[in-house]
This record gives sequence, structure tokens and C-alpha cells, in this order.
Amino acid sequence: MSKNTFYITTPIYYPSDRLHIGHSYTTVAADAIARYKRLRGFDVMFLTGTDEHGQKIQRKAEEKGVSPKQYVDEIVAGIKELWKLMKITNDRFIRTTDKEHQATVQKIFKKLYDNGDIYKSEYEGWYCTPCESFWTETQLEDGKCPDCNREVELTKEESYFFRLSKYQDRLIKHIEENPEFIQPVSRQNEMLNNFLRPGLEDLCVSRTTFDWGVPVTFDDKHVVYVWIDALSNYITALGYLSEDDSAYRRYWPADVHLVGKEIVRFHTIIWPAMLMALGEPLPKQVFGHGWLLLEGGKMSKSVGNVVDPVILIKKYGLDPIRYFLLREVPFGSDGVFSNEALIQRINSDLANDLGNLLNRTVAMIDKYFGGTIPEQREEGEFDSDLRDTFAELPNKVEELMDRFQFSTALAEIWKAISRTNKYIDETMPWVLAKSEDKKPRLAAVMYNLAESLRIISILIQPFMPETPQKMREQLGIADRPAPDWDSAKKWGGYPAGVSVRKGEALFPRIDIKKELEELEALSATNKGEAEGSQHASDMKQAAECKPAGAKSAAGKADGNDAGKESKFITIDDFARLDLRVAKVLEAEKIEGSDKLLKLKLELGGETRQVVSGIAKHYTPESLIGKSVILVANLKPVKLRGVESQGMILAASNDDDLVIATLDSDIDSGAKVT
Ligand code: MSP
Repeated sequence: MSKNTFYITTPIYYPSDRLHIGHSYTTVAADAIARYKRLRGFDVMFLTGTDEHGQKIQRKAEEKGVSPKQYVDEIVAGIKELWKLMKITNDRFIRTTDKEHQATVQKIFKKLYDNGDIYKSEYEGWYCTPCESFWTETQLEDGKCPDCNREVELTKEESYFFRLSKYQDRLIKHIEENPEFIQPVSRQNEMLNNFLRPGLEDLCVSRTTFDWGVPVTFDDKHVVYVWIDALSNYITALGYLSEDDSAYRRYWPADVHLVGKEIVRFHTIIWPAMLMALGEPLPKQVFGHGWLLLEGGKMSKSVGNVVDPVILIKKYGLDPIRYFLLREVPFGSDGVFSNEALIQRINSDLANDLGNLLNRTVAMIDKYFGGTIPEQREEGEFDSDLRDTFAELPNKVEELMDRFQFSTALAEIWKAISRTNKYIDETMPWVLAKSEDKKPRLAAVMYNLAESLRIISILIQPFMPETPQKMREQLGIADRPAPDWDSAKKWGGYPAGVSVRKGEALFPRIDIKKELEELEALSATNKGEAEGSQHASDMKQAAECKPAGAKSAAGKADGNDAGKESKFITIDDFARLDLRVAKVLEAEKIEGSDKLLKLKLELGGETRQVVSGIAKHYTPESLIGKSVILVANLKPVKLRGVESQGMILAASNDDDLVIATLDSDIDSGAKVT
């Protein structure tokens, strides 16, 4: 009998130079679902990819002096590497620059045009002549071009439009009749009340001011604008309208599109309207998750945050990072990422609860029985309670995973881990070990512990790709066939006669104080990390593109105002920095820290004390007399209890760090401009 299918997608990623840990959030969540569904016997199609066209990419490539394709190729290779490093099990990776995708986008565009759902008109926007760019009202900064800060003019541009307004009533009806379509429910109300009920405008779906995009076949001045190009990836990847559309017929409609909250609108209004116009079924669900933010309110700014997923994985390992992302924040809500919270989770949930349980169990089986649990066992107090916990657990996890409630599913598993740890305290194996006639009871206790761990190793598989196998190795069952999900439902699967093998601690404990200090030093020389969704993809920028005369949607909230961000700062922003030449008068190590130095700097007539994370690269003596560049108007902070009144500039990569000095002598206090 053929398996049930399950089709899950992430958004296609905008090729930004640097992906931060927030970006991996959608993908890690989707991967956990894909792994879980495979374990439950589904034929899973898990799609991710990259969204590579648009003016911004074209610009960036020009700035770098390479072709847009060369530019995206390099970044996309990095994104694929990251997913590999994170053990993401996507079945397909689509790039909007793939030939097959582009060909299908052209067919879709033509089909919609032939049906009368796309028509030619004029788009009105604010045009910046030097940048050759159109901007929407809300993208302007103080009424000026967000890129170069110059005056803009209200101008019209020829454009094709999609009749989005025509689908308004059908969309409202669909959402009202299918409460599962938009999840969580709060996002449903947002879409209905903020966007659909007030009325939809038609949407511009082609541009003539840049050419890095899919050409419109019947009008070569135009390229297809982001919507049809990006959103259709979910069906072009399956071969829709191509010679072999078997995957499309097998997997479509998608079971779920996982997306961040800021793009729910595009996936629940524009995308279904496009599908209605094409006469295709709608996805069963769009799930809009929240954002992982940095230092959301309560967090102290002085705690360094490193958000590069590669650095984090190198430092703490993959499974702890994946565990944290899925455990810390209820899926759907916003949450805060901090190194402190991450380390706390590693120490308490992973090292203390799970790591210790395995470690103690294996060590005791080794010590009391030379590694193999005898078959003569005696049932005793607490056993049935432990068994009941595990009898209920898989169903609870399933019920929560079916609703993408990773955090609560993990909390349930960890409750069972705590219950098992408590079972050790209750049964006191060290007391049983003292008398020979208690050996059968001791053997039963050891068996129950090993069996609990076996079940746990099955249930954590969707979340952690590496730990289950490590557990199974220590439990002596790694060479047996991979356990199926249902074997977690049957107590007693831990085989007789196997020998445990003591191994390394699953999750070494981290010295939180030392670690935070190291991170502080690292972030002191590694500023400018991502905050929320730093880069706005073309899709978010395009959200306001309307036909001439249409009213602006400014003021309607859909989770964020991402479209407003610009990577440039103005000369006025730069002028806010007070950069000064400073001379090092004294330098000394800070006690108990191998990263931080305390510097006394001369700054014209005054002196400043600065703490700098450069001790691994400079001895205190080598700094005396050097002229450095100081950010003199940085808010003072305390590092390791020592006040730092500014920051000195340094260049760094993964291994090296050099401080910025001056070409020739100039008096301290001189302004750096
Ligand atoms: N290219 C569009 C999607 C087109 S889908 C047809 C896009 N790309 S993106 O690279 O900007 O974002 C990809 C995903 O990363 C989105 O789901 C977005 O919400 C998610 N995240 C980016 N920053 C995030 C956080 N800080 N926290 C959680 N998720 C975030 O949008």
C-alpha cells in the first residue's frame, strides 16, 4: 500500500551575506516536522531553497563587480553548507534561478494573462533618478530615497497587475470556512481584519527598471516581479506545468507552509489568490511562527550575543542549538535568543537531566553487573509509576507534534526524564547493591532505567540528529536495526544480554561565568550582528506596490515593518560617532580573565579607562605608547566589574585580531573622520 504523503516547505531564503541564528529557526522547525513525519511512516517531501532575483541583488552584485548569478551562487553555496552543518533533511532545494523554475514561472504568468487575471497598467511610486529606483511611500526615509538620501519624484511606470481584488470574497470565505488554514488563530484575525475586510488592491507583478528576474515572454521590457517568481516555487519545485508533473500530482496541495509572521500575509492572501486564478487547490495550512529576537527588553546589553549559527554550532554542538531553538519559545510566539539562556538550557536540561541520567545508568550497570543486566529481575515499588509515565508519553508527543508544538513536546519528554532521574533516588541502587539477595531487584531497576533511555532516544529523534545514536551506542544497542517510532510505545524493547559501553558525557557542562565573559569579549570585537530580520527581502519591500491611484496600505500591521530597513547609514548617522585618536598609557590583565585587558588611554587633556577583549592577541607591554582609535561616545559599561568608557577599534576574523592604529603620529584627542 502506498504511504500517505506529507509536503512541508520553508520560505525560500533571500541570499543575504550573513545568515543569523534567527534564519535557521524556520528551517530547523521544518526539519523537526519532516523527521517526525518520516518516523511516523509518511512519504515526506520537504522543500527549501533560495529567492534570488530582484533589484537589490542586482545592485549588490554591481557593487562587488560580479554578475548577479556569480554573486548569488557564492551565497547560496554558503546557505547549503549551513543546512548541511545543521543536518537539515530537505528532499529538494529550489533556486529561483533554476532553469526549470524560470520556465514554469513564465508559463504561469502567461496563463494568468491569457485568463485575464493579469492586465497592463501603470504603477505609481517615488522615483530616485540617481539610483534608478522606485520606492513606496513607507520605504522613504524622511521623504527621501532610503539608499542615497536624495530627493525623489512621484513617477509612473508601466507594469502588469494581478487582479488580487477579484479574489477578496473567496479568500475571506475560505479562511472563515477552514479554521486550520491560518495558524496560529491570532494570525487569522489579523489577516481578516487588517487586510481582507478593508479591501484588497490589485498587485503589480512586473517591473521594467531592472532586469535581474524572469523575463515576461510576451513583453520583453518586463521582468516578473517577486510574487509570482518567489511564491510559485512551492509548485514549480514539484514539476507543475512541466513534462513530468508526477511529484506535483503526488504531493500538492502542501500540508503546511511554515513561514515567519512577517510573510504570513503573502502566503495567505496573495499566494492562495494566485492558486485560485490558476484553478489549483490551496495549501492545507500556513503556519506563521514568531521571531527570535535579541535582548528583547529584559536582557542586559552588556552580555555579548553571538548569533552566527556556524560559530554557535562549533562552540556548543549541533543538538544543543537545535534543542534550544525548539524548546525555548512556544512555536508561534516571539522569543528571545541569548547566550545565557542557551547555556542555561545546555547545563540544566541537557547536561544535568539527560546527560547525567545516561551517564549514571551506564556507570551503574557497568559497576554492579560488569556491563550486562542479568535476566533474573524482580519487580518492585515505583516500577509501575515509571512505566505509566512512558506509556502515555508517545501519544502526548504525537498530539503536540501534530500541532507543531515543539516546545511542549520537548517539555513532556523532559518530564519523563526527570521522572526517571527521580526513580534512581527512590530505588537507591547503591543500597540494593550492598546485599546479594537484592541483586534481582537491582537488575530490574537497571533494566527500567535502560529501557526508559531507549524510549527517550526514539522520541528525541525529530529534534536532535546526533544524540539518539550516541545514547544507543552507550546503551549497547547501536548495531541493532534503527528503532521505529512505534517501538517507543512498547515497554520492554531493551534487549537482553547486550553490554553497555561507557562513553563521553553527552553534553559537557559549561562554566557559565567564564563562557559569558568570553562571549562578551568576542562580541566586543564583533558588533553589528543581526537583530530580528535584518535584511528585507524583495518580497517585504514589494508589499506596498499598488496600481496608480490606489490607496497606500501604510499603517496596517502584519507582524513587522521590515520593508523600511536599509543597509546604508547616512552621513549624519556616521557623524554621531565620536572617533578619536587615543594613546595607550597603561595596560594590564584583568584578574580571572584570559581575554580582557584594562587600558588607560590619553585622550587630549583627559584620560579614559577602556576594557578590551584583546588579551589573547596582545601582551599589555606591547601596547604601551601605541596610538589607537577610540569610539569615545559609547555608553560606558561594566565588563567583569570594571568600567569601560569606550571601545577601541580592531579588525578580526575567526583566528586573528589586530587593533587599528595610525599611519603616522598625530596628537591624542584628534578626531577620526
Ligand atoms: N524570500 C522571502 C520568502 C519568500 S517565500 C516565497 C524571505 N526570505 S528571508 O530570508 O528574509 O526569510 C526567510 C525566513 O527566515 C522567514 O520565514 C523569516 O521569517 C525567517 N526569519 C528571519 N529572521 C528571523 C528571526 N530573527 N527569527 C525567526 N525567523 C526569522 O522572507
